[in-house]
Amino acid sequence: MSDHQRRRFLQFLLASPVLPLLGACRDKSSSLASSLPADARAADAIEQALISSPQDALDLFDLAAVGERNIPPAHWGSLMSGSDDDRTMQLNSEAFARLQIRARRFVDTSKVDASIELLGSKLTSPIVLSPLSGQEAYHPEGEVGTATAARKRGHLMTLSSFASRSLASVADAIGDRSKLWFQCYPTDQLAVALDVIKRAEDLGIKTLILTADMPARGNRISLIRSARKDPRPCESCHGDNPGSTKPRNPQVFLRSFPMYEGLELGQVTSFLRPITLDFIGKVRAATRMKIAVKGIVTAEDARICVDHGIDAVWVSNHGGRQENSGVATIETLQEVVTAVAGKLPIVFDGGVRRGTDVFKALALGATAVGIGRPQAWALGAFGAAGVERALELLQLELTKTMQIVGTPSIAAITPAHVRWR
Ligand SMILES: Cc1cc2nc3c(=O)[nH]c(=O)nc-3n(C[C@H](O)[C@H](O)[C@H](O)COP(=O)(O)O)c2cc1C
Repeated sequence: MSDHQRRRFLQFLLASPVLPLLGACRDKSSSLASSLPADARAADAIEQALISSPQDALDLFDLAAVGERNIPPAHWGSLMSGSDDDRTMQLNSEAFARLQIRARRFVDTSKVDASIELLGSKLTSPIVLSPLSGQEAYHPEGEVGTATAARKRGHLMTLSSFASRSLASVADAIGDRSKLWFQCYPTDQLAVALDVIKRAEDLGIKTLILTADMPARGNRISLIRSARKDPRPCESCHGDNPGSTKPRNPQVFLRSFPMYEGLELGQVTSFLRPITLDFIGKVRAATRMKIAVKGIVTAEDARICVDHGIDAVWVSNHGGRQENSGVATIETLQEVVTAVAGKLPIVFDGGVRRGTDVFKALALGATAVGIGRPQAWALGAFGAAGVERALELLQLELTKTMQIVGTPSIAAITPAHVRWR
C-alpha cells in the first residue's frame, strides 16, 4: 500500500461508519499488525473491513467505503461537497431520524408490491436515480454503468445534460426510453437550450427535467479544499480547474460534455441560467416532452407549478449543494404535498440512504424517491454491479419495511404511518 493510499485510509477512518468494526479487525490480525507502523496498521485494518464484492454489501455505506477508496480525492471531495459548511447536506440525512414510523398490525403483508406508475411509465420501484453529472469521475463505465443497473432492476434513471456519456449510449443501455428522463442545464442561450432539448426529444425521451435550484453555483467550499489536496493537475482532464475559486470558462466546461458537442456555443457566457416562467413557456412551446421542475422546496413555488401546467414537481435542495438553508428536504415535503393537492406527481430527493427513508418520504406524499450521491458511491465501488446492488439493497429494505409496518402496496403507505418527533 502506497503512502497516498495510507493517508486516504486514515482520512476514511475518521469519517467512516466502518470505524466501529476496526476493533474486531485489529484483534484478528494482532500479531501481523503489531509489526507495522501505527498508520499502516489502521490502514490495513480498514482494508480488511472493506467488502470485496457487491454482494457482500449489507447497506449503502459498505459501498460508500469502497467507493471512497477507489474514487480520486478531488472527485470524492466534489461528490461529497455541500455548500458553505455542508450543514444543509448533513441535515438532509439527519432529519430522517426525527421522522418516525408508526407501524400498524393486523394487515396481511405476506405479499408486498412496491411498483408504481409515474407519468405513464410502469416502474418496479418508487426508487429513482436522480440526475448526477459527470459519472466517469467515479468509474470508467460512467452513466452507461448506472443505466445498465437501472435496466436490470427496472428503475427510472434521470440523465444530466452534464453527463460524461452521450444520451444515445445511455438510452441504448436503458432500452425502454420511458424509463429515462433527461435533465437539461440550458445555458444562458435559448438557442443552445432548445438544440439540446430537441436532441433529447429526437432520441425518444418523453420527460424533460428543468432544475430550478441552480441559477448560480452554490458555495462549494469542501470541493475546493479537496481539489487543493489532490496532487493531480485538474487542467489535464478538465481543460480548466474546477477546484479553483475563479469562475469556470463556460465554453471549455460545456465542450467537455457530449450533450453540447457540435453546438454553436460562441454566445454562451454562463452555463447556468435562472429558470423563469418566461423561459419555461419558451421550452413548452418548443417541445412535446412532459416537463418536471426540480428544486422546489416551498408551497408557493409548488402552486406556481400546478398553475402553469408543469407535469411533475421534484422536491429537492440539490443535495444541500445550493442555498445553505438549514432546512432538510424532507422537512419541506409536507408543504409542497399540501399545495399540490394530488394534482401532480411529486418526486423527492435529499439524504435518502435507507429503505426506511424512502418509506418516510412516500408516507409524507412523495410519488417517487430519488438517490443522488449513493449512485456514485456504488458506481465507484464496483461499476454497474455496484449500482445494481445499491438498488437491490434499497428495494429490499423498502419492501421489508412495508411488510413489517403493514403496508402491502405503495398506495397503502399514508401520512398516518409517520410522525415527527
Ligand atoms: C456530484 C453531484 C452532481 C449532481 N448533478 C446534478 C445535475 O447534473 N443535475 C441536477 O438536477 N442535480 C444534480 N445533483 C443533485 C442530485 O440530483 C440530487 O438532487 C441530490 O444529489 C440528492 O441528494 P443526495 O445526494 O443526498 O441523495 C447533483 C448532486 C451531486 C452530489
